This record gives sequence, structure tokens and C-alpha cells, in this order.
Amino acid sequence: MPSEHPAKPEAGVHRERQVQRLFSEIAPRYDLLNHVLSLNVDKGWRRKAVDLLGWEHAVDGRFLDACAGTFDLALELSGRPGFRGSVVASDFAQPMLREGVPKLTASSVIPVCGDSLQLPFPDDTFEGATVGFGVRNLADLEGGIRELRRVLRPGARLVVLEFTTPPNALVRWSYLFYFHRILPLVGRLVSRHPWAYSYLPKSVEQFPGPSALEAVFRDAGFRETDHRLLSLGIAALHWGVK
Ligand SMILES: C[S@@+](CC[C@H](N)C(=O)[O-])C[C@H]1O[C@@H](n2cnc3c(N)ncnc32)[C@H](O)[C@@H]1O
Repeated sequence: MPSEHPAKPEAGVHRERQVQRLFSEIAPRYDLLNHVLSLNVDKGWRRKAVDLLGWEHAVDGRFLDACAGTFDLALELSGRPGFRGSVVASDFAQPMLREGVPKLTASSVIPVCGDSLQLPFPDDTFEGATVGFGVRNLADLEGGIRELRRVLRPGARLVVLEFTTPPNALVRWSYLFYFHRILPLVGRLVSRHPWAYSYLPKSVEQFPGPSALEAVFRDAGFRETDHRLLSLGIAALHWGVK
């Protein structure tokens, strides 16, 4: 029943709580929809994100995956041959973490329930950090990027994977058609959530483009910032060094 649901997150007020509630509600279907709606391309994107992290310089180190959801990105790192460290995987939607816990058998992923805008870790804790499809949902993007930098050790790298809008007009048209027509329909049918999968394309459209996000990294104090488009610009990787 639509009336049982809060206003959509893009409406503004209490965005933080609304996003938390949204992901808590779709948690049981999140993994299925993630892989189906991205036609499994998301797995390759996560691999590339971890390739860029530079974890090889601290194979016994402690890493952070913020907005970790059901742990796919954290598991991509912890499963790398030669990795002997740990991955703290934090998220504020407990049902997302619970949904992912059965996947953690014998991994070095440590789930933590926490808000990425106020990470429950001291300064200079981690050898590197990742965020997959998370920063777009933050109520305060700039504050979130600063907070991620705070918990990184000097010299450590942040890698962010996000959706973006393809620069090529033809690809963009096809992508927007899929995003606005097909994805919300399939998402609604499978998740049975009335608007979660309409929120997704809107949140991507409203999100800063790759160059603007890179500027947010620089303003937060990151150096050696850069980005790379993936799959014709459907998604992008962004990174910077503390
Ligand atoms: C689209 S999911 C991505 C999950 C996972 N990283 C992945 O790659 O599949 C976004 C996640 O960000 C989390 N999230 C959004 N805002 C957050 C915040 N302020 N603090 C902690 N988690 C947050 C949501 O609860 C959700 O699990």
C-alpha cells in the first residue's frame, strides 16, 4: 500500500531515514534484482574497483567497505588470492547486512552496523576503502566523502563505484529507456516495493557527473584523484589518495 511508505527520498526531509527504510524493505530481493537488472555486469565492475584499491601494499591490513549492503564488494576483496587482512563492511540498514551474512562463511569480512556519515571508527584506521553504489544515496555527499577520508590512513586510497549517465547520445537514449521503462517495472514486480526501483533512475540523474564527483574528492582533501567510465559510461570508478 503506497500510503504505508514514506515520501520518496528525493523529496528531501529525513532523507537519511528514508534511504535506510528503503534498503531495509528491499533487502530480501536486493541480490537477485541487482544481478538480474544489471545483467550480471555489476560483478565485473566490482572486480575492477578492487583492482584499483592497491590492497597489495597491505595484504595483512584492515580495509573498509562502506554502504556494504549484502557484502558483494567486501567479498570481492576478501576473496582475492594473497589477501590475508580483514574487511570491515559497514551499513546502516541491518536487514541488508543480515541478508548478506550467509555469504560470509570462512571470509574475513566483519559486518558492522553504522552510518557512513558518522563512521564508528577512529581517524587513520584503514589501509583503503571502497563504496559500491552507496555514495549516491548519502544525504550529505560532501560530508560522507570527508568522513571516509578521515578514517583512512595517510597514503590510503578510496575507490567509489557509482552509476552515471553515458556521454554518448545513442547509448544514453537506450540506457535511459531501460532505466525509466524496464527497470522500474521489473523492480516493482520482483521487489513488490512500490517505488524503490523508480527512485534508482531518478537518483542517478540527480547525482553529480564523474568530473563533479572528482571535484568533491579534491575538495575533501584527496589527492591523485581520477575516474574511469565503465561499460560505455553506465557506471564509473572514482578514486583518490589521502
Ligand atoms: C545500492 S546499495 C549498495 C550495496 C553494496 N555496496 C553493493 O555494491 O551492492 C546501497 C547501500 O548503501 C547503504 N547506505 C545508504 N546510505 C547510508 C549511510 N548513510 N550509512 C550507511 N549505509 C548507507 C544502504 O543501506 C544500502 O545497503
